[in-house]
Amino acid sequence: MTLRVRLVAAVAYVLLLAIVAFGLPLALSLRTRINDEVRTQAHAQADLVAAAATDFLPDRAQLSLLARTASTTLHGRVLIVNAGGQVLVDSAGPAEVGSNYASRPELARALAGSPDQVQRYSRTLGEEILATAVPIIHNGTTAGAVRVTQSVGAVGRAVARVELELVVIGIIVLLIGLLVGSLLSGQIGRPLRRLEQVARRVAQGDLSARANIEGSVEQRSLAGSFNEMAERISRLLRAQRDFVADASHQLRTPLTGLRLRLEEARALTAADSPAGHELQQAVTEVERLAETVGELLLLSRAGERSVAGTTLELNGVAEAAVARWRVEARARGITLTAGREGAPGEVHVAREDIDRALDALIENALHYSPHGSAVSVVSGPGRIEVRDRGPGISADERELVFKRFGRGSAGRAGPPGHGLGLPIARELARAWGGEVTLGARAGGGTCATVDLRGAAPQLTGAGTATGGGAAGGGAAGGHFAGA
Ligand SMILES: Nc1ncnc2c1ncn2[C@@H]1O[C@H](COP(=O)(O)OP(=O)(O)OP(=O)(O)O)[C@@H](O)[C@H]1O
Ligand SMILES: [Mg+2]
Repeated sequence: MTLRVRLVAAVAYVLLLAIVAFGLPLALSLRTRINDEVRTQAHAQADLVAAAATDFLPDRAQLSLLARTASTTLHGRVLIVNAGGQVLVDSAGPAEVGSNYASRPELARALAGSPDQVQRYSRTLGEEILATAVPIIHNGTTAGAVRVTQSVGAVGRAVARVELELVVIGIIVLLIGLLVGSLLSGQIGRPLRRLEQVARRVAQGDLSARANIEGSVEQRSLAGSFNEMAERISRLLRAQRDFVADASHQLRTPLTGLRLRLEEARALTAADSPAGHELQQAVTEVERLAETVGELLLLSRAGERSVAGTTLELNGVAEAAVARWRVEARARGITLTAGREGAPGEVHVAREDIDRALDALIENALHYSPHGSAVSVVSGPGRIEVRDRGPGISADERELVFKRFGRGSAGRAGPPGHGLGLPIARELARAWGGEVTLGARAGGGTCATVDLRGAAPQLTGAGTATGGGAAGGGAAGGHFAGA
């Protein structure tokens, strides 16, 4: 969830909480309060009309005016009856004048001297009404009664209208709050988004990228710390690069000199003498040392070189690798063949990188397989497998041997090595979004895989390896069908 969404959600949550906390009790008490208000007002108006009617009882015109005025105020019907229950005045019109209403329960009670207010069903109107009746007292006796009737449905509708208004106000407040929240979160999130873009540039290798110092105090401090970190990383990397370059230069020259001198000394010594034998051993050791220096140099630069990639067809890559190693294989009495399973497809990598990775796997297969066995290099969809019938590799060694200088049981029992072949192969494959894995081969032996499905031409876009590419594929020790 983005920061913006989180902030807007938080604002919405707080506003909803406020609306529910304040609006709901208000809405709930509204109906009761309006009902009480209507009842009290009806009573007060009826009392008022009754008091005024005492003076106007004989004057029908005045009584009628009185009833109409009260009816307008109350939005109801006002009826005045005499002591016998006969209608004197009706705000609804003259039709009922003269009729006897003494049987209406509220009027009967009012004519008996006590005011009454009831909610009942009116058969005439066909709806619930609120009827309020009070007696008209003249000279201590009941001279008639006033009745006010109001539609309960109308009151309900009025309440519903007010409730709807409350809901609309709540929604408007919520929308305004969301808008303000969204604007605020945009402002807060902008510096963070810019910082994230800069961090991504640094991650992609642009170590000169620096963040703008902007935003709140915390954001400015974060940007400052980020810049410090980027500065330190770029200084460290520069120092490391310089060190590797210097060290390799400083080591290579004396190593070459040493090797030449040893070879000269060997040429001057009888080959079958003990000294000649020792000198031969020394030349081999120096060659190994030079190789190790070269490999370490390659490994330290594998993640940061900028090599152009090309679109390669994996059959050709596998066949060329077999051709390179055929003589060495024959010398070891091993049959080395190339094969293919399924459509191999194309990958986008640097030729030298895939060749170097494959060489490390084929070299291992030849080194650790017994005389007389067979090794096959098989290309398949986006991957190449090197299959041997050697001692195999146990599950707990499969990852350990990818550590630098990590040698497994086969390595320790077999010919001397540096423990750098597999780490280099993996590093080179990963620079192109690929992966190198070792697995057991059905029927005995090892199956080493360079999986380059993550280096499909459409996926690699820029076409250069700058290191740190996502490892793709990764089906450890997998075989193609029928392997
Ligand atoms: N095909 C294989 N069969 C059995 N064991 C293997 C195979 N390939 C690699 N290994 C194990 O993995 C270890 C590491 O291999 P890696 O290629 O990294 O180094 P190395 O072969 O020992 O030395 P070098 O750096 O000279 O290649 C080996 O020592 C060996 O134990
Ligand atoms: Mg090796």
